[in-house]
Amino acid sequence: MKFELTQEQKMIKDMTQKFASEELAPESVKRDVEKIWPHEQIKKMSELGLMGMMVDSKWGGTNMDTISYVVAMEEIAKVDASAAVIMSVNNSLVCYIFQKYANDRQKKKYLVPLCRGERLGCFSLSEPQSGSDASNMNVYAKKEGDNFIISGTKNWVTNGIQSDVIMLFCVTEKNIGHKGISCFIIDKDTPGVSVGKAEEKLGIRSSDTCELYFDQVSVSKDNLVGELGDGFKIALSTLDGGRIGIAAQALGIAQASLENSIYYSKERKQFGKPISANQSIQFKLADMAMQIEAARLLTYKAAWKKDSNMNFGVSASMAKVFASEVAMQSSNQCVQIHGGYGYIKETGVERLMRDAKITQIYEGTSEIQRVVIARDLLK
Ligand code: CAA
Repeated sequence: MKFELTQEQKMIKDMTQKFASEELAPESVKRDVEKIWPHEQIKKMSELGLMGMMVDSKWGGTNMDTISYVVAMEEIAKVDASAAVIMSVNNSLVCYIFQKYANDRQKKKYLVPLCRGERLGCFSLSEPQSGSDASNMNVYAKKEGDNFIISGTKNWVTNGIQSDVIMLFCVTEKNIGHKGISCFIIDKDTPGVSVGKAEEKLGIRSSDTCELYFDQVSVSKDNLVGELGDGFKIALSTLDGGRIGIAAQALGIAQASLENSIYYSKERKQFGKPISANQSIQFKLADMAMQIEAARLLTYKAAWKKDSNMNFGVSASMAKVFASEVAMQSSNQCVQIHGGYGYIKETGVERLMRDAKITQIYEGTSEIQRVVIARDLLK
């Protein structure tokens, strides 16, 4: 068992760390406050190969392993969790579906531009009445000749506004539960597709989240991914990998909380000495470091299992639930250590706490991750 990153993984870490501090850090607070989508930064991330990291180079990707992806995601999220989720959705929820389930014609048309950053993808599963109970969906695709006519409303779509390509999950046969769900590739400019308002969010404010409306959208059967009825399994197996990405995002937020706390507690003097001289602060730092280390090991293990072609779903759920809870606790402690300075926007510290919260919710809530883990224990 080796606990060391390979040379290539170390290079990815250095490269993303440099990029994040030079290109993402300078305006991250402004982008959060004003809800500015990071166009220039995402363009540069594409140029660095960060938007199709685990895709074969034959299809425009960078052909890296999941551990490299986790390392990169942590470094990006450490500085800007919004940029991290934009990257995460394109990599683990969109490119992954193409790489694993699409045919060569679909890969050529969509995967190459998605990896190169010429197009951006989103993953559209949830609906107003269906979040955790993901198969309880209403968006319906009716077969008419060689086409499907799709109608209904999706919500909570990350990248929904800026994206060009939608991975859409919808019902193709009613009353047979998850076996009647299929996955389609939808070009966003197809007539009948429209976008709702940008949601006003607590955190990850410079990424976009919105509703998507489908009004009699006609899509060719050529845009079906896999077979009719494969959709639910495509969605859940894709989310298994997505959860590793969100665990890494949470890890980045937690690590930033620790680093900010160490720096500030050594600088800030009260009662004639740095606050880091107080055991109450030292114990907070020690607990944060321990929990982050454990979260990192769980996340790397899930990534390693995925790279080793082992069943990794339960490990991904463990990593996500643990890392997201660590992110929440660490960012909370970070604000506490910063006191009044932690509560104002300029320091960027309260953003960590706001950004951490979503990692306990999207791509399966902490409760759903525990369902996945418990079902496996009891089966
Ligand atoms: N991979 C592949 N197939 C799977 C699977 C997996 N991980 N888990 C289950 N399945 C299969 C089962 O084997 C079963 O197939 P058969 O009937 O052929 O045996 C089928 O799927 C249905 O399984 P379940 O009966 O277990 O399904 P369920 O309805 O009880 O749901 C669940 C299980 C774990 C609760 C699932 O619905 C779930 O994960 N819910 C959370 C959804 C979620 O994560 N949503 C996130 C939205 S996307 C998002 O947040 C993205 C973003 O914008 C950032």
